[in-house]
Amino acid sequence: MINPIKKLPKVIKTKRLEMRQLNATSENAKLVFDAVKNENPTDFYFNPIAKNTVPKTVKEMLKKMQQEDEYSKSNGANYYIFHTDKLIGYRRFHFFDDATKTLQMSIVWLTRSAWGNGFAKETSDKIEAIAFYTLGANRITRQCSTENVRSAKSIKSSGFHLDGISRQSGVYPDNKVYDVMFWSKLKSEYKK
Ligand SMILES: CC(C)(COP(=O)(O)OP(=O)(O)OC[C@H]1O[C@@H](n2cnc3c(N)ncnc32)[C@H](O)[C@@H]1OP(=O)(O)O)[C@@H](O)C(=O)NCCC(=O)NCCS
Repeated sequence: MINPIKKLPKVIKTKRLEMRQLNATSENAKLVFDAVKNENPTDFYFNPIAKNTVPKTVKEMLKKMQQEDEYSKSNGANYYIFHTDKLIGYRRFHFFDDATKTLQMSIVWLTRSAWGNGFAKETSDKIEAIAFYTLGANRITRQCSTENVRSAKSIKSSGFHLDGISRQSGVYPDNKVYDVMFWSKLKSEYKK
């Protein structure tokens, strides 16, 4: 049976944003590259756009997009986030269609100038509604480093429960280990 996540629309609209699935083509890689090429890599230390830093060429970005497609091939979805037609971010999430019915929000990043507007929360709210009412999820999970203060704040403000902290279980691209915060929200806790 096809995972229901594969039947989600190619474009999902929120109040202020549009989430679009983009094919990994050179043209789209240039679009994403142009959006992030002047970003400060330190702003993306906790969740780099590419393996170690922001991609330095369109070719590197294309490879990254292909890798993201590969990660989401069987049970995931990738959406690029647009505000007034300008690309400002990205999200990948997965649906585990087993007895746990879990949607895992795996990656989110916004360009620095888009931080502080509630855009991550707005897309997260939309994905929650999709998870619980379209996909039939019972639970949503998220993770972040204890050092990623902005991310932890954003997840908490979306009403997620901190299940616990797994010590030294994450590894940054520079091989430094970090403590991972595990968050969840159950359908019974979901407020429309
Ligand atoms: C993590 C990340 C996506 C969070 O972005 P964000 O804009 O801080 O998150 P939110 O969408 O939750 O927005 C919250 C902020 O918007 C403000 N805001 C403005 N308008 C708002 C609105 N309409 N609704 C909600 N919040 C609003 C809030 O006051 C808050 O600002 P503050 O943190 O300065 O107090 C961003 O920091 C990022 O891209 N970081 C780099 C990549 C990364 O680390 N990703 C996560 C890895 S786990």
